[in-house]
Amino acid sequence: MQSDKRSIMTTRILTGITTTGTPHLGNYAGAIRPAIVASRADNVDSFYFLADYHALIKCDDPLRIQRSRLEIAATWLACGLNPERVTFYRQSDIPEIPELTWLLTCVAAKGLLNRAHAYKASVDQNVAKGEDPDAGVTMGLFSYPVLMAADILMFNAHQVPVGRDQIQHVEMARDIGQRFNHLFGQGREFFALPEALIEESVATLPGLDGRKMSKSYDNTIPLFGSSKQLKDAVARIVTDSKLPGEPKDADNSHLFTLYQAFASAGQTTEFRAALEGGLAWGEAKQRLSELLEGELGEARERYNALIAKPAELEDILLAGAAKARKIATPFLGELREAVGLRSFKERLVSKGGEKERAKGKKPKFLSFKDDDGLFRFKFVTVDGEQILLSEGFDNPRDAGEAIKALSGFSGDRLPLFDSETETGTLIFEVCNNGRTVAVSYEFSSEKERDAAKAVLRAAFDQLHLG
Ligand code: TRP
Repeated sequence: MQSDKRSIMTTRILTGITTTGTPHLGNYAGAIRPAIVASRADNVDSFYFLADYHALIKCDDPLRIQRSRLEIAATWLACGLNPERVTFYRQSDIPEIPELTWLLTCVAAKGLLNRAHAYKASVDQNVAKGEDPDAGVTMGLFSYPVLMAADILMFNAHQVPVGRDQIQHVEMARDIGQRFNHLFGQGREFFALPEALIEESVATLPGLDGRKMSKSYDNTIPLFGSSKQLKDAVARIVTDSKLPGEPKDADNSHLFTLYQAFASAGQTTEFRAALEGGLAWGEAKQRLSELLEGELGEARERYNALIAKPAELEDILLAGAAKARKIATPFLGELREAVGLRSFKERLVSKGGEKERAKGKKPKFLSFKDDDGLFRFKFVTVDGEQILLSEGFDNPRDAGEAIKALSGFSGDRLPLFDSETETGTLIFEVCNNGRTVAVSYEFSSEKERDAAKAVLRAAFDQLHLG
């Protein structure tokens, strides 16, 4: 059993990738490569997900959605994203996200969303054409920023690496989160307020024609096409008409810019000197192809292997979703409580528990320092029976915080997750904020495990009596 120990100083980084296209070299240099490098830093806890609900807003072609999710998942893994280290999942595998979207929709000001650039651009276009301002505008497009706010706030991300066009959306997430905190927090900050992270040093790659590389300009170089496709694309890079032997102006050549984005400083200097010394464009393209082949060749093999086994990719993503839901499920439970979507049982139970209440008896947490020097707590019923033993904490304060967090849950909201030991016996884990706080005893059947969970939930309901 591994428990997930996170330092309190960890920064949570989260970003989503809309699954409508096939990744190209510009996506790789501008987003994928820097994100993977960032995910390897110490003290960061990164969340990367396929924003496939967002994709539905822009695309009504199911096959394209299906294909793009697969390709993008395979791309990130092939490029070196480690799903053990980061949390990598599909947005649509987390039902808590649309649920949170609704809670946020109910506090998001319509006037705020009226100002969103993407929506405004559509309206402006319609008006310019003399059409109804909202022609062709779906509620999906209009509410896009609320869904994105849910993505970010669900995991209390501190930093959100995005392109400039998305800064406004991150600011809206802040606004909406702040509004919710204010309305329902009662002094508690449910949501951390996120910041957009704009990597200034990251390359915006030029495409074949020198404009920004983008699918909409049809000027991209495919990331994981065959070597031949890569070569063919490079051959189509537009250059000036200087002849072999004539000096070339490296700084005004986007071929050079592309080369520089993947070369070492030494290689770049050498390439510049060669161009200025009259290197033929054909030869320059050959060198760029070789450079790209070196950068991407191995990743392409991994990519092809992954694409060939979609069932394995599915398992990786489902494991990622399970990891994400260890945070999302209990957190959404707290948010539901906060807005008043509460179980009726708490009150029903509190009637049935009158006898215990009269005696002032409740289940309780008992903290102690264990023989191994770690701090643990147990949870005992009114009859004094121990029904839970926590993991070891390094210090009493962490143990105390875990108790405080758990005490906030009613029985039916207590975050229990079924799991198995390495030897295959059944257990369940009690989680809080993504961390396993306690592991149950081992059970030999699901029935036994369910019964133990029910006892624990009932005891937690008793905690809130009176
Ligand atoms: N809207 C983002 C884009 O188009 C994708 C996205 C969806 C996202 N949810 C997110 C990015 C949450 C960061 C955080 O690029």
